Amino acid sequence: MKSNFKKGEISLPWPGLGTIVGQEELEAVTDVIKESIEKRKELKGGKLVERFEKEFAQYVDAKYAIAVSSCGVALLISGKILGLKEGNEVIVPPNTHVSTATSLMEIGAKPIFVDIKKNTFNIDPEKIEEKISSRTKAIYPVHYAGQPCDMNRILEIAKKHSLYVVEDAAHTPGAEYKGKRVGSIGDITCFSFQTQKNMTTLGEGGMITTNNKDFAEKAKILRSFGVKKYTNQENYWQPWHYDVVAISNNFRMTEVQGAFGLVQLKKLDRITERRREIAYYLTKNLKKIKGIIPPYENPDIKHVYHIYNVLFKEKEVGFSKDKFIEKLYHDYKIKPIIHYLPVYLFTVFQERGYKKGECPVAEEVFKESLGLPLYPGYSQREIDYLLFAVKEVLGNN
Ligand SMILES: Cc1ncc(COP(=O)(O)O)c(C=O)c1O
Repeated sequence: MKSNFKKGEISLPWPGLGTIVGQEELEAVTDVIKESIEKRKELKGGKLVERFEKEFAQYVDAKYAIAVSSCGVALLISGKILGLKEGNEVIVPPNTHVSTATSLMEIGAKPIFVDIKKNTFNIDPEKIEEKISSRTKAIYPVHYAGQPCDMNRILEIAKKHSLYVVEDAAHTPGAEYKGKRVGSIGDITCFSFQTQKNMTTLGEGGMITTNNKDFAEKAKILRSFGVKKYTNQENYWQPWHYDVVAISNNFRMTEVQGAFGLVQLKKLDRITERRREIAYYLTKNLKKIKGIIPPYENPDIKHVYHIYNVLFKEKEVGFSKDKFIEKLYHDYKIKPIIHYLPVYLFTVFQERGYKKGECPVAEEVFKESLGLPLYPGYSQREIDYLLFAVKEVLGNN
């Protein structure tokens, strides 16, 4: 690695885009709009969303995939499918996006936080059973940063206690657990296609996957105002050819997003490989540096490096993590990001009685961790600049 860089000569803010978008997406989207203009065709989800669902289901090896407007919504719909309500409890990790927990609270269920493992930052299966009560209905593992959780152990516990498993796979399209793609391991899996994720559907979007036919039918109803369409075509001329069977809202994906998603899905493996290549290059170089611990990778899984998280050891380095971040940002135009503040520390949880200290490992990891920007479109020079800056701030160049 050459280090012929000047401070601040390259700017590496946290990438607003997690994937690579190009001419193919532009053409796919333009075609949908053109067709709509020429044939007065509707733009809401149609044939292309259906094709995207089919191809995504095949990709993750699930029987059904239902496209929705976000992963937050996918989680909300999942809770409704399972019939979760007031008085029910659900096991969740604390180091996640708030929606893993708030999607439950929205329907009256209570998230119960279980601490994480120090190496993978994923939920610690060995701490789940002590939090299970007669009110527990489900476990929501989150595949943090792109690394799948210890699913066999989680499924075993779920089976023993008759609990559902809903996977938050916002970070893990394309990831594998023991050779099996994430998407059909638990009862339901929720994906995000928001702009920073490993693939996107024009900035927002999500997918629910499942092997359960009943769950898939419910998901379709819940993503569209609780509407159940009559399939009897003979009655199609009638003004009312549907019933409303649940209270819900409009969580549909548009046709333009479906077209975009189809192109992104084709690119996903290539983008994942690039993410992994960059991650391994960073790890190879960072592991020689005192005070920085690169991410651990469980040998049983395929990590898709949505986030490249390191641990910063203040005592070894001699100054604070905040100082490190400040220097990277002000002197080198590099913006790290921290995922996540244990969510129970947010006001909305504190007001509901959750206490600091509930998950000590997650709180300790939060103090030490920081995500270095990792974008699959970075050039080698940009990646080397990132390493140069990290080393220089730590006095290692
Ligand atoms: C772990 C996790 N779950 C859920 C979500 C929510 O995804 P969306 O923005 O698609 O609603 C995110 C998004 O940041 C996430 O990282």
